[in-house]
Amino acid sequence: MYHRFDAVVVGAGGAGLMAALQLRAVNTAVISKLYPVRSHTGTAQGGIAAALANLEEDYPEWHAFDTVKGGDYVVDQAAAETMCAEAVDVVYELERGGLPFNRTPDGKIDQRRFGGHTRNFGEAPVRRACYAADRTGHMILQTLFQQGIKHQVRFFNEFHLLDLLIHEGRCCGVVALEIATGEIHVFHSKAVILAAGGYGRAYKITSNAHALTGDGVAVPYRRGVPLEDMEFYQFHPTGIYKMGILLTEAARGEGGILLNGKGERFMERYAPKLVDLAPRDMVSRCILLEVRAGNGVEGKDYVYLDVRHLGKEVIDAKLPDITDFVRTYMGIDPVTQPVPIQPTAHYAMGGVPTDVDGRVVVDESGTPLPGLYAAGECACVSVHGANRLGTNSLVDIVVFGRRAGRHAARFVQEADLPPLPPHPDAFAREQVDKLLRGPQQGERAVAIREKLQAEMMDKASVMRQESDLKALQRTLGELHEAYERVAIQDRGLRFNTDLTETLELGCLLDIADTIVVGAQARTESRGAHWREDYPKRDDANWLKHTLAYRRDGGIELRYKPVSITRFQPQERKY
Ligand code: FUM
Repeated sequence: MYHRFDAVVVGAGGAGLMAALQLRAVNTAVISKLYPVRSHTGTAQGGIAAALANLEEDYPEWHAFDTVKGGDYVVDQAAAETMCAEAVDVVYELERGGLPFNRTPDGKIDQRRFGGHTRNFGEAPVRRACYAADRTGHMILQTLFQQGIKHQVRFFNEFHLLDLLIHEGRCCGVVALEIATGEIHVFHSKAVILAAGGYGRAYKITSNAHALTGDGVAVPYRRGVPLEDMEFYQFHPTGIYKMGILLTEAARGEGGILLNGKGERFMERYAPKLVDLAPRDMVSRCILLEVRAGNGVEGKDYVYLDVRHLGKEVIDAKLPDITDFVRTYMGIDPVTQPVPIQPTAHYAMGGVPTDVDGRVVVDESGTPLPGLYAAGECACVSVHGANRLGTNSLVDIVVFGRRAGRHAARFVQEADLPPLPPHPDAFAREQVDKLLRGPQQGERAVAIREKLQAEMMDKASVMRQESDLKALQRTLGELHEAYERVAIQDRGLRFNTDLTETLELGCLLDIADTIVVGAQARTESRGAHWREDYPKRDDANWLKHTLAYRRDGGIELRYKPVSITRFQPQERKY
């Protein structure tokens, strides 16, 4: 089926919905793999950072400094300054849109502490995270979706992205599979905004939902768009042990602490100033160091998150969802028992490179690909650098979703509709037909995926080293070969999850390649990329962004400089 729109937004989480709301004066479609309110924004828990200064002195400049330092200085500082300045206005916009934030006694938006957010350029933690209990992302998603309904946004729900159309140097649409029918749809448009989320499902232990397979990253990559800084992948320190389900950093923001198997508050040794509220890369690493030193609980690979001293009233009022998760999944009551936790794959700092208006840029000089935009976790405007601060992803999606939407709205009013390539759906059909008509016996997608996730967890997670990364690259080669022989059993067209999960696996494999190749090349330790064989940050050689291009012979890596405006790189002490 053929559709024509001015703009197509791919993804209906916070970034996609925010973009779509800016595009309501033009003919816009939002296509989403999920029903919109099931998007992963809904799982973000603890807060959205903005220097409102409702409880204590705070400024966007301090927020920008923390963001740059938290990202270990490979942050584009102009972009970070834009984000932190606009965070204030966008939070009030969400409030006006109906978001039920927690309140201070005098009726202002309440704010809590979060890792790496400080006052006066690193002095001590500051209350910067605006929140709605521990379901802030859920509330943002509901608010934006309701605004979308009010403004009659046109949704195509349960459409799976298959291809991005680029012709004569312009982006001219996307091709998607309607999951309910198996029909292939061509969306012809002047602009496309990719807002399809991250790819935590490349790892075994992850806070990410099953749908987070990086389709909106792998699809443009296959069409020649480079991927930026893929080696930086964040592990959140407090995932439920063995399950990875997120337990918000707000638990520590409210005063919760981490304890090792000896009952020691071990973060005091590693980060004397911020202690449990040090940035995530550090805390995750420290947990693993404790485990390696034999200080895990009962000598195992986990430590405790302890909130008992907060008391039932605070826990029930401020952390109700995570308390529920722990009770449901572990049979433990956080009011009376410490909770076993381990680092969990959480957030992609890398992605599709963009400028501050969400325009996708395809080289070291920042050349935009006309008509193509990206925002949110699938994008890399580079505000997070090598390590994102907690609560900055919700800021990122709404600030840059809004900017991308506004720019695209202006663009489509001036641009003509570009021509489609001949047979625009050919590549998408080829992918689907190969799977639907291939042999029914052969490699199983589930086995390839499990091997991928286990190996990525083992060799490309919190700590990395050359020998492991090399071995992992070989394994990925074998998994790609196995994928060529993958067999699906369901030949039907309706809700064929055998087909869609196999397509998703292809995306995960391509993305894993870029993580591993980028990580091998970066012979330094910075933020979430910790090389045991190169344990120091090396600004002389590595204060730069990676661009990974897919080529016939493999991946070509190129590099581009970091934009530094006012914060010179310093040693990162907390
Ligand atoms: O810990 C959390 O609530 C997660 C927030 C985030 O990733 O920004």
